Amino acid sequence: MADVEAVILVGGLGTRLRPLTLSAPKPMLPTAGVPFLTHLIARIAAAGIEHVVLGTSYRAEVFEQHFGDGSALGARLDYIVEAEALGTGGGIRNVAPVLGADTILVFNGDNLIGVDLLAMVETHRRAQADVTLCLQRVPDPRAFGCVSTDEAGRVTAFLEKDPNPVTDQINAGLYAFRREVIDSIPTGRPVSVERETFPGLLAAGATVVGHLNTGYWRDFGTPADFVTGSADLVRGIAPSPAVAVPGEQLLLAGARVAPSADVRGGSTVGRGAVVEAGALVDGSVLFDGARVAEGAVVVRSAVGADAVVGPGTVLEDVVVGDRARLGARLELRGGARVWPDVTLPDGSIRFSTDA
Ligand code: GTP
Repeated sequence: MADVEAVILVGGLGTRLRPLTLSAPKPMLPTAGVPFLTHLIARIAAAGIEHVVLGTSYRAEVFEQHFGDGSALGARLDYIVEAEALGTGGGIRNVAPVLGADTILVFNGDNLIGVDLLAMVETHRRAQADVTLCLQRVPDPRAFGCVSTDEAGRVTAFLEKDPNPVTDQINAGLYAFRREVIDSIPTGRPVSVERETFPGLLAAGATVVGHLNTGYWRDFGTPADFVTGSADLVRGIAPSPAVAVPGEQLLLAGARVAPSADVRGGSTVGRGAVVEAGALVDGSVLFDGARVAEGAVVVRSAVGADAVVGPGTVLEDVVVGDRARLGARLELRGGARVWPDVTLPDGSIRFSTDA
């Protein structure tokens, strides 16, 4: 794998995870105690790939500030910034000047996938493919890009978010590219690989093949997937060399949980976060400094940094923005989000909820 390079696309706005992504780009959100991207880079490095290029745009500076040259994770990192977001295809094309290998693995920066990367590269090389798409079978493919293949594994159709899908195979957000294909993507304008590059390659008769993943896969792009994926990492269900000891809960440095509180379901309690007496935290992520007051219930929810969940308040499937202060005995469920509205002259922030 030393002659394979990796590109990770991390330039998206992460709108579906707002308000958490107002303060940090999606790939930097904490999962199992570290930025999500840590798990991905660690897996790439563990597969023997040394050179990893991050295609950044939104909040570009935070990646290098955190990961530096990548040596702590066993990788050599380069950062290429898009002044204006170029989309997934434009992002890949934009990093081409720093690539030297003939085979390039391209990862969406918000997907975690248990596929054997070496086996995928072997599929790509055996087929002498222009592009190899990692595919995943899912029970409900309607929200994804569907990819049909023939018996030989060649891709026959690529359909983005089809209401009547003809296959349960979806695009898993991981591709092997032949170098020249990257060079053929237009420059200077936004390009989507999903909507433009892949359909274009098929129409031109290029060799596009599928490689089916039978291991773990999750796109962390929605609140429900973010909290479930984080719990999977904590419990060791999702593969990551960056998770030392799997368990039902992860308490980070300085976290405090009252003896009568219950933290379970792969929940993370962030640095300096507090769970008070009688509270329940199940399948959730409490960011650093968050506080869950006495008797509160937090289920399948993300509570932003330094946010407070008041006594007896119940949250189910909720996203709470950083520093929000929720009062006592509120009930928020079913996808509600607590948004920061305005910063008041005294520096405090007023919050509202959309449910
Ligand atoms: P949503 O706004 O919630 O859809 O999230 P997103 O902006 O991250 O978009 P999406 O999940 O479709 O993106 C898939 C991957 O591509 C993510 O890892 C993004 O960071 C990345 N990505 C999306 N658009 C761009 C872009 O314009 N440039 C770069 N470099 N990466 C991008």
